[in-house]
Amino acid sequence: MRKVHICEVGPRDGLQNAKHLMPTDAKKAWISALAAAGVEEIEVGSFVPPKLIPAMADTGEVVQYARTLPGVKVVALAPNLKGFQRALEAGAHKVTFPVSASRLHSESNVRMTPEQMVEEVRKCARYPHPGVEIEGAVSTAFGCTMQGDVPEDDVVRIAAKLAEFCDGVALADTVGYANPAQIRRVFRRVKNEIGAKLEAAHLHNTRGLGLANALAAYEEGVRHFDSSMGGLGGCPFAPGASGNVITEDLVFMFESMGVPTGISLEQLFRAREVLVKGIPEEPIYGHTPLAGLPKGFRAAA
Ligand code: COA
Ligand code: ZN
Repeated sequence: MRKVHICEVGPRDGLQNAKHLMPTDAKKAWISALAAAGVEEIEVGSFVPPKLIPAMADTGEVVQYARTLPGVKVVALAPNLKGFQRALEAGAHKVTFPVSASRLHSESNVRMTPEQMVEEVRKCARYPHPGVEIEGAVSTAFGCTMQGDVPEDDVVRIAAKLAEFCDGVALADTVGYANPAQIRRVFRRVKNEIGAKLEAAHLHNTRGLGLANALAAYEEGVRHFDSSMGGLGGCPFAPGASGNVITEDLVFMFESMGVPTGISLEQLFRAREVLVKGIPEEPIYGHTPLAGLPKGFRAAA
């Protein structure tokens, strides 16, 4: 069976929405522990104005540090050309751009309409970026707390535009509105349109359907998943957004199904301790780390 690729987005999606700040050294220790657990891709921060999200002010230093960890693909989020240039300067291997399918969320998040944001990403794709991957992430692809319904046609249209110049496209359930039937339908529609350019599922667990949605996406052929340790996360510019699908539980689900993730659960639990040490006041979630692994549990071969 094919392996799934998990991108840990806690240092970005998680910490951007945390009530407390994690010191830079603690971020580095957490990212090291994640790498030691076998996490091969980590979204370590975002290049946004530090005044807007103070927790991301040290992303340049964190990217530079993460680059020294062997075997880790270092991802950063950028909302515009300036952020992209900062990401390139710091040495990110991959840059992801949030392109909201909901006009209201897009304007709240990046002060651009979806169409303007698509053009901003196109501008970045034209800017020299040797060896650096660009991902277009269609945010609020399954609904929006501000706009309500997000027409599937809008999602397909934006994904198709992004596929013209991005290396990969992700669909994001920014506010945790999706259900498994919807996940299957929308991923299938977008895949019919852009084929293998459709890569990742970025799911939130706001209504407890994170794992069900991840499994539905897996059954539609998705092999790249974003998730967040301890279920931290959420967009500060989308009211009602909360944590991502929980990395520990997602890894447990796949490994116990016999689908290798390349990640050691025991070491992942150690990384969770490092996370708690780095931001002790922040509530964290996760069923598997609390319950422990089942007796006789065997990771996927
Ligand atoms: N990094 C650092 N500074 C930036 C920047 C970036 N990526 N983009 C713009 N700036 C600076 C500008 O240089 C300018 O500085 P100045 O006032 O000293 O001249 C100032 O910020 C305002 O620039 P402007 O282009 O007018 O931006 P804006 O105020 O319209 O904000 C975004 C637009 C896209 C920068 C902002 O909405 C944003 O960062 N959104 C992302 C939010 C986010 O992280 N959401 C969660 C993840 S999905
Ligand atoms: Zn998110």
